[in-house]
Amino acid sequence: MVRINKVKGWGFLAILLLVFLLPATSFAALPDPVLKDKVEAGKSVYFKRCVWCHGVEGGGDGPSADRLFTRPRNFIQGTFKIRTTDSGELPLDANLIKTVTNGLPGSAMPAWGEFLKKEEIEAVIQFVKTLVQDRDFGDEDEEVNVQDFGTNPWGTQGPYHLGVPQEAIDKGKEIFIKNKCFECHGGEGRGDGNPTMKDDWGFPIVAADWQQCWNFRGSRRDPYNPFNIVRTISTGLNGTPMPNFREQITIEDRWNIAAFVNSLCPRKRIDPLANKPVSDFLIKSKYTEGPVSNNLDDPMWTAPYDDHKVIPRADDYEGDQYRSYVAMAGQITRGNRNFKPKVDNLWVTSRWSPEENAVYYLLEYHLRFLSTNPEFPDAVGIQWPGKLQDLFGAEKPYFIYGDSKKPVDLWKAEFMAKDYNPANAPKPEGYDLDLKVHEYIGNGFDAIKEKETEPTVQVVASKFHQGKVRVLFKRSLTNDNKETDVQIPSETFIPVSFMQWSGYDNEKDEHQALSTWLYTILEPPVPDSIYYMPPIAAAIFICFQGWLVWMTKRTRKMWDEGKMK
Ligand code: HEC
Ligand code: HEC
Repeated sequence: MVRINKVKGWGFLAILLLVFLLPATSFAALPDPVLKDKVEAGKSVYFKRCVWCHGVEGGGDGPSADRLFTRPRNFIQGTFKIRTTDSGELPLDANLIKTVTNGLPGSAMPAWGEFLKKEEIEAVIQFVKTLVQDRDFGDEDEEVNVQDFGTNPWGTQGPYHLGVPQEAIDKGKEIFIKNKCFECHGGEGRGDGNPTMKDDWGFPIVAADWQQCWNFRGSRRDPYNPFNIVRTISTGLNGTPMPNFREQITIEDRWNIAAFVNSLCPRKRIDPLANKPVSDFLIKSKYTEGPVSNNLDDPMWTAPYDDHKVIPRADDYEGDQYRSYVAMAGQITRGNRNFKPKVDNLWVTSRWSPEENAVYYLLEYHLRFLSTNPEFPDAVGIQWPGKLQDLFGAEKPYFIYGDSKKPVDLWKAEFMAKDYNPANAPKPEGYDLDLKVHEYIGNGFDAIKEKETEPTVQVVASKFHQGKVRVLFKRSLTNDNKETDVQIPSETFIPVSFMQWSGYDNEKDEHQALSTWLYTILEPPVPDSIYYMPPIAAAIFICFQGWLVWMTKRTRKMWDEGKMK
């Protein structure tokens, strides 16, 4: 009796010891089985909403699939990227519900929380689970181990960086180097480390750009939350080369590396629908006394990316200039359409100097790899109304290459990096660009031609460095070509838009990315102009609204009086 009790006691102790020694990272369980009573309802949602991309049998081959990069998921293998379960395992229902609700930013997968009821989402994921053929959510051999992610050690909330100690970020950087994340994500995290990766379905895949965290698939519409990064490095992304680092990095250090990765992503106001930063609609050109620097590393050109008005950042920056964020989209209205442009934003900084009678625009954007094919050079351009003086009120030319009455003036820089190959080891000083500037007059989509006048636009500095392109344009404010070249006044709202071509992806001509018309203004010399600019913009907006209301009322009245049919 006594002996048995003793053995029992030892056994109990041993179990206790085991429980203590086992790292408390996970618990094993079966996956959530398919809820059969929801499948029919889910099927009807699927065939209304999901089939266009994911296909009739869930093979990721719907009618829209070929136009998309990343391609819609093929559900047949049961491979899901965003989970709280271990690498290779099936997801929980809770994971899929969050994915469908918030979408997969940076891909075409929409945030269905905006369009579907909660019950519809809960149902459709049950149907998606039935599309999985190679695995079975009801299989007793399937196991899921929900990972332990710890909790945010700094207790920070959105915007999440305020309150993270610098030591955590520095520690995170060490772990980043030690674990060689840069081999895929690049030295500065722009995803430019490896051009030859494939996903499990055989399609090319690139590493995430950490400086555009709003494009993280698993950002859950909370892109600055370091938890999402901790989850990714703890679970890996099934079906992709992104491994888990559960064994290599302690949970504490996973939060530190998340702090580091997170610190690279500029804080901007995020549009909850588009899941991307809200485009800045006004690009202020800063008044500069004396000449403007041609050196891209001069403080004149290194304004922060964060939007101080939206989210104050705890650094000691004292200037009042910030880079403007310009949203770009593929050209899909005419000709050779572009459904998957590689670049979806540019950053723009501008200065002007009365002494030089010149204006400068620095265009910066992230692009992992540049072209090496002279037939498809990379390019970026600025489009202006050609005859600003003839435009009335809020009038603008047609936004792609103008129209017959209202021409545009397009400055386009075409370039290739010197001695460059995407597979090269990173070059600390970056690549110089072999660059040619073209000036076009556009009178419509099919009517653009190169100007015959002497060149007026220069690119005075340019660089490609670790996944970032920088091109600095310069032109005189005014010149003699009043019929073709924009004459740039100060203190006036001037329509401006941007275009970009990624040569590596064979983008050329109308196969391009572009912005809508935005405004730029050459600010007056008074440094605190920022304080009265918003009221001016607001006043213009209110006048415009008033004018709209007046027009609508007038039209309705004319309609009522039978003057209009
Ligand atoms: C416009 C195209 C499109 C539509 C419509 C669409 N999806 Fe997707 N979906 C995608 C793309 C693209 C991916 C893959 C993104 C990736 O792999 O990074 C994806 C991936 C997924 C995944 C995989 C998630 C993971 O963690 O790997 C699920 C689940 C999913 N979609 C469910 C749905 C459901 C449910 C619907 C309908 C309510 C739907 N999708 C409609 C494009 C679409
Ligand atoms: C072998 C290449 C490789 C290595 C090494 C690697 N990654 Fe990744 N990582 C990827 C790829 C590829 C993706 C993009 C997957 C996709 O688009 O679906 C990715 C995506 C990510 C994402 C975005 C997740 C999301 O929600 O979309 C984060 C964050 C990330 N990696 C962090 C890290 C960190 C931190 C390390 C180092 C500890 C690391 N990665 C090492 C290949 C790698």
